[in-house]
Amino acid sequence: MTATTLIGKSIPRIDSPQKVRGQTRYTADLTPPGTLIARLTTATQAHARITGIDTSAARAVPGVVDVVTGADLLPDGPEPSERARAMLARDKVIYYGQPVAVVIAESEAAAEEAAALVQVDYEPLGVVIDPRAAMQPDAPVIRPKAQEGEWAEAQMHATVQGGEEVDVNRLPDNVISAVRFSRGDVEQGFAEADVVVERSFTTPSVHQGYIEPHATLAVPDPLGNLTIYTATQGQFYARTVTADTLGLAQNQVTIVPMEVGGGFGGKTVLLEPLVGALALRTGRPVKLVLSRMEEFLLATPAPGAVIDVKLGAKKDGTITAIQGHVIFDSGVYPGAPAVVALLILGGYYRCANLDLIGYEVLTNKPGVGAYRAPGAPQGTFAIEQAVDEAARALGWDPLEFRLRNVSAPGDPQPNDVPWPEMGLREVLEAVRDHWQQRTAGPNEGFGIAIGGWPGGIEPCAANVRVNTDGSLTVSLGSVDITGTNTTMAMIAAETFGVPVDRVKVVTDNTDGAPYAGMSGGSKITYTVGLAVRAAAEEARRQVFAIAAAELEAAPEDLEIVDGKVQVKGVPDRSIAIGEIARLSMTFGGKYEPVYGVGKSAVTARAPGFSAQIAHVRVDPATGEVTLLGIVAAQDVGRALNPALVEGQIHGGVAQGIGWALHEGLIYDDNGQPLNPTLMDYSLPAAPQVPPIEVKLVEVPSSAGPFGAKGVGEPPVIPTAAAIANAIADATGARVTDLPMTAPRIR
Ligand code: MOS
Repeated sequence: MTATTLIGKSIPRIDSPQKVRGQTRYTADLTPPGTLIARLTTATQAHARITGIDTSAARAVPGVVDVVTGADLLPDGPEPSERARAMLARDKVIYYGQPVAVVIAESEAAAEEAAALVQVDYEPLGVVIDPRAAMQPDAPVIRPKAQEGEWAEAQMHATVQGGEEVDVNRLPDNVISAVRFSRGDVEQGFAEADVVVERSFTTPSVHQGYIEPHATLAVPDPLGNLTIYTATQGQFYARTVTADTLGLAQNQVTIVPMEVGGGFGGKTVLLEPLVGALALRTGRPVKLVLSRMEEFLLATPAPGAVIDVKLGAKKDGTITAIQGHVIFDSGVYPGAPAVVALLILGGYYRCANLDLIGYEVLTNKPGVGAYRAPGAPQGTFAIEQAVDEAARALGWDPLEFRLRNVSAPGDPQPNDVPWPEMGLREVLEAVRDHWQQRTAGPNEGFGIAIGGWPGGIEPCAANVRVNTDGSLTVSLGSVDITGTNTTMAMIAAETFGVPVDRVKVVTDNTDGAPYAGMSGGSKITYTVGLAVRAAAEEARRQVFAIAAAELEAAPEDLEIVDGKVQVKGVPDRSIAIGEIARLSMTFGGKYEPVYGVGKSAVTARAPGFSAQIAHVRVDPATGEVTLLGIVAAQDVGRALNPALVEGQIHGGVAQGIGWALHEGLIYDDNGQPLNPTLMDYSLPAAPQVPPIEVKLVEVPSSAGPFGAKGVGEPPVIPTAAAIANAIADATGARVTDLPMTAPRIR
């Protein structure tokens, strides 16, 4: 491991003082003079033709400037296939809560009052809510397949190679994508097995649960350009979608990425095209902030899933076959490809015989989106229970059975791409002592599960400028949703050789920022971090070249001490860094990381693995589960800032507890959501989160700066499965449906 002075130290987030003082400004806090406030009128049917919209009562409210409907904004032709591009419904609504009209007014009160007065008439169509029902040939059709060509390519965090495409044109209209991975002969594998486990698992749609609602402010200029202030995890992606939807050139749209008050995948692009369109229409700034209920109605939660697994294993501990049939419930827009779940079903463990098929299915529910490790908690809930059950049935210790079978670097994933450097074995070994020393009291049990995230990769660059006082300014195109700017400051300081408080990190707008991908996929620290390291190295090289000439010494004989470049060990022969910057005034530039893009990028990924142990008590009378503790081991490559890394792991486990025991969007047969508020959508509160013991494992990655790997996503992945396995240990009962509420256990 590289010797470092700053890397590896826990320093507080550089933005924490302003956060704890309440000085951080969010998009909703911005109201430039002349701003108009927008409020939505949303659908009260889940699938219906719009037969009329009467806006007269709304227009009569004093202060109302305009009432806009889908017919005003959308060209004729097939409806867009992405939530943000669709803006407003036009001919029909396809989910309850879909925006149908928007009121723009001088005040929030006027907008709110008028939005409730927009009268929409509907002619109901058949509704389909259950994804299994949606796959039936006679199910109500949400979009005819003829429109498929109009669909935007689904956003995916993980690039995937291989797999057979299944011809969805021969499947019912609601099935919009399908993929299959197979290897060997599963029937043969099951015939060789001493134990075959077969189970069907379900997981509901889950909301990301961020505190800050979606908020967007669009400011037009007289030339028809837009400046859009918004909470997004990726300003360049938001710009692409907005410009494209509005028919503008990308350089006519400037996205200013504001602080994100929680994203978890849910803050990509949503309101920007609509609010931009309204600003262009009125020629005035327009702001839209979603209400809490609208977040549940029309934002982009995680997909629910139905996962059937059949797994065979022999007495000697070999897993002989895995068969999986996976349905991901995408809601009304593409966004839930099942491929990540398939890679998880067949990728954690070596297995000669695989047959995995996954379908993405439309239902009359809000279009889903990314949520922390998209597809992974669902797939892991299934495979990690099946493996646990097989191990116990064979008399194997569940941890040793996993160690017997886990994939190692070089082993093929279901898509035949070899696993790169991975710390899967190591995280299991890190919790072994804990596991062996577990002691369960009455009605208590322990469960173990693993989780892995392949890691994404995307081209990116960073800019490091040396200022004439010797301080550094790092400008980036990545949004800081998890404290990454603090880590970037540390990387720049460590690499260049100045204290961290001499580094400022700026997330710039789309006009000024070097390109970076979306802050998601657990990739920012190792992709943008590598760019920051390269930029700081280059800036240091330039500074040393000038200092060498000034000091009449060779660059390799120089060092940086206390803000000066000096001849090693000779403080009298020195020149201040700021002085060197004055001599040049041109430091800075764009530096890209050393890995390639496309196929060459695949091997540079840094997959993160987690192993967790859950300790539960189950009340035999009520079925209520009390969590007594979680141990979470995670391979983070190198913990650049251990406090931030542990914070990510705590947060991931807390969200995993939500999946396990509390959360799930519930819809009735008409598609009306039954729990769209924080009063009735149950999130884990502090008393429900037990002590979490974090064990950091460091198997360095060659893909990341100082060996770092992605950290954010792996900790949410195994938690629900570990808790389910603990419930099985305590009660002997397998709970196969999330959330594992008391009535499902009793
Ligand atoms: Mo994400 S789901 O913000 O990586």
